[in-house]
Order: sequence, then C-alpha cells, then structure tokens
Amino acid sequence: MDLRVAVAGLGPMGRGIARVFAVAGAAVTVVDVDAATTARGHAQLREEEDVPVSVAASVAAAVRDADLFIEAIVERFEAKRSLLAEVRATVRAAGNDKLVVATNTSSLSIGELGVAYGDPSRVVGMHFFNPPAKMRLVEVIRGARTDPEVVALAREWVAALGKTAVLCADSPNFIVNRVCRPLYYESQLLVTQGMAPPVVDAAVRGALGHRMGPLELLDFTGLHTHLGSSETALREFGDPRYRPIPLTRRLVRAGTTGRAAGQGYYDYAAGKPRDAQASVLRTSQQSEVDVRVYRAVGCTPRDVAAVTGLARQGRVVVDSSDGGWVEHLPAGVGWIRLHGGFAEVVADEVAGIEPAHDAVDALGATSVPVLALPGLVVDRLAHTMANEALTLVEEATATAEDVDLALRLGMNHPIGPLEYLTRTGPAEVLAGLRGMATHFGDPRYRPAPLLVRQAAGSRR
Ligand SMILES: NC(=O)c1ccc[n+]([C@@H]2O[C@H](COP(=O)([O-])OP(=O)(O)OC[C@H]3O[C@@H](n4cnc5c(N)ncnc54)[C@H](O)[C@@H]3O)[C@@H](O)[C@H]2O)c1
Repeated sequence: MDLRVAVAGLGPMGRGIARVFAVAGAAVTVVDVDAATTARGHAQLREEEDVPVSVAASVAAAVRDADLFIEAIVERFEAKRSLLAEVRATVRAAGNDKLVVATNTSSLSIGELGVAYGDPSRVVGMHFFNPPAKMRLVEVIRGARTDPEVVALAREWVAALGKTAVLCADSPNFIVNRVCRPLYYESQLLVTQGMAPPVVDAAVRGALGHRMGPLELLDFTGLHTHLGSSETALREFGDPRYRPIPLTRRLVRAGTTGRAAGQGYYDYAAGKPRDAQASVLRTSQQSEVDVRVYRAVGCTPRDVAAVTGLARQGRVVVDSSDGGWVEHLPAGVGWIRLHGGFAEVVADEVAGIEPAHDAVDALGATSVPVLALPGLVVDRLAHTMANEALTLVEEATATAEDVDLALRLGMNHPIGPLEYLTRTGPAEVLAGLRGMATHFGDPRYRPAPLLVRQAAGSRR
C-alpha cells in the first residue's frame, strides 16, 4: 500500500489502526499528546508486529507530507476541534492540499468536525471496530459536505487493508450501534420486568445464534459507554424510543458498570456469564407424548376458539409470542415459541402458566423458561432490531445490503436484520410490533412506515 498515514492518539484504537496500516505496507507515523503513552504505544507496536512505525514529535511533523490523517484521540469535541485546527494550520503552511482527514469518532458529527477543521469537504468518518486488527468492518461516514472523492478514497484504503467498508450518512450511532439500540434496550427492559439476565442471554444465543448475549455484551462494553450512546441517540433524534432504561442509570451510578468493574448484569466474582446461561438451559428428554402444536402469529378470537377446540381432543400447545395469550390461553394449554431446535417455554406462576416441558420433549428442542411477556424474548429483540434496521434504510442512512453486512461483520450475527425481516416476512414482524405496542403502550415498538408499506405490499 503506497500511502503515508499519520495517526493521532495512541489509545487502543489509534494503536490498532496504526498497526493495520503498517502491516498493509503504508508508511505510518504516530503521535500522542502524552509522552509516556507515545513511548509505550510505540514499543507495543514494534513488539506486536515488528512493522516500522515512526513517532512524530508534533502533529505538524506528522501531517506535513501525509496523504491520510486519522484522529483517534479522546472522544471530546473540544479536544478534537483544537487538534483539527492545528492540522489545518499545518496543511495550509505546507501546501498539503491532498490530505484526507479521517476521524474514528463513535458519536460526534462528521459534518461538525468538518466545519471545525475549516474544510468539510476533506473530512470523512472511518469508524474502526475494536480491536482493529481483528475486526473486518469499517463504517465509512460521509458528512453532508464531504467530497465524494474523499469518500471513495476512504473506501479504497479500507479495501486495501483487507477489510470491508460500509457506507453511512452522518447520523448518530452510525449503523451497528444504532441497529443494536433495541437489542440493548429490550434486553434490559426484560430484566426490569422480571427476567433473569442468564435467561435473556441464553434465549438470544440459542435462538438467534449470537455469540454473546446482549447483557453479557453490555457488561463487556461497559454500561456507561452504552448509556452515553443512548443519551446521544435520545438528544439527537428527539424520539422517546431511544430513552435510556432507568435500571442502566442505577447500575452506572452505583459503579457497577460491567465486566471491568467486576459487576454489572453479572457478578464476575461469582462466575462466568456462560456458566450462568448454561444452567438455565434444559435439554429435551425422550418422550412419546402426542402433542399438537398450534402456530399463531397473533391471538384472535378465532385462534382462541381453535385452541380451545383442540384442547378438548388432547394435549395442545400454542406456538406464539403474541402478548394476547397471557389473558386468553385456555386452561391446560401450554405456551411455547419455537425457533428451529430451540424453544422458549412460558413458565409463569403469577399468570398461572405451567411450562409445557412434555411438548418440548416431544419436539426434541433445547429450551429456556420465559415469563409471559408480549413478544417473549426472541421475537421482541429480533423484531425491534429489524424495525430499527428498516428505519435506517427508509431515512437513507445506509442501504439494506450495507446494514446487513455491518451487523454480520461488526457483531458476528449469523444473518443481518433485514435478511431476518425477509425470511420472517414483513407482515409477521409488523403484527409482532403492533402486539407489543398495544400491550406495552410504549413508542419503542412503533413500526417504521416502510414496514407498514412492505407488509401491505406482501399481502397484495
Ligand atoms: N474503544 C473503542 O471500542 C472504540 C471503538 C471505535 C471508535 N472509538 C473511538 O476512537 C477514539 C479513540 O478511542 P480509544 O478508546 O483508543 O481512546 P482513549 O481515550 O483510550 O485514547 C485516546 C488517546 O488519545 C491521546 N490524546 C488525547 N488528546 C490528544 C491530542 N490532542 N493529540 C494526540 N493524542 C491525544 C490520549 O493521550 C490517549 O492516549 C475515540 O474517538 C473513540 O470514540 C473507540
């Protein structure tokens, strides 16, 4: 890669970014305000990869002849603003008008940083994921005034690193963190509503194939970081669906911010989240019971009458996540939600619903017990994520292809949220969201207008 790159900030991100460019053959210069960090970062870079990286004494020295400047300094607008002003002054003095200025910011506006730089056409977002050496995804963010040629160069460089770029408009939380908003909110709300964290995480891993459950992931990232991006989303979009969960604030205020703090949704002194999740799973036993499974997307009077009729003839279970069943499930009928070989089994003493283990045994599924809450766990999380993903497409923040690619590469999800939407069908996802909206009465479940149109289109 024939490129001169200057990287400012030698925290974990700056160091990782410098490393991937150096490994790809670029001439890399690094600079950090803190002399000790610079020395340590430089030594680490040499040790890790033994690739040549130079240290500059000043920002001016680093950017004078560079093709690309990437800032990965602290996430504070004022710090970034003064750094960018310094870069701009050097570029002007040195006549280096080819310089592309990239920012690795997770939450600040690319347009605003462009104005801070003094030439928004040269500023682009290059949002690497942690750790940059391992993660293949880079979100390339175009500010409203970024030159298309600058965007094209950023994408080319990402490809030359052997990574995949997805293109995103300058919108809060970009793609991955935005689509995951509901995943985080809903999993925490489930805890507020009485579900144990290991159950939520086991359901998500078992049914959706995520490598980490959402609460384990929140603990890993740090609840304070999550709370920060929730506050950004709420402030920037002004939409109550993004409001933080009170429980998150309580945990953050108490200093129980996750794994690094020793406690968050899990207590790390007591054991690993994986062990806690394994303990709530139930493997099916051999069974000869004859069970009829009644699959219902909703809970209409016709569904209830059909189930009541079937129950007179033998053992029957409803396969549904519609919240209407909490009030209308006939006595003696079981309630499950099947996802291939994995089942959520409603076990709710308060609502008087016994777990239908016999049915799950007959179906040969691994299961987890859940409370009788609208959407249960899996559909609630998957449908709200698909809705958020579709909102991004509707507002032209990103294309459907890029949204799916971003979630697969950035989160290791086996399928993207829009592919999930296509497989499940927009009508079913819409019905699920409307059920949640009715039963919870919260704007979090408001369907995207595009989803309503898609569902109508699929019916015509
Ligand atoms: N940590 C993540 O998971 C992650 C992921 C994607 C993006 N980001 C973003 O990347 C950036 C850096 O993240 P991090 O976690 O490595 O940060 P960090 O706070 O750990 O490190 C920042 C470094 O920048 C240095 N610095 C501060 N002001 C400077 C200046 N004016 N010039 C040069 N160096 C300066 C600091 O001394 C420190 O070494 C932030 O914008 C962050 O939002 C972080």
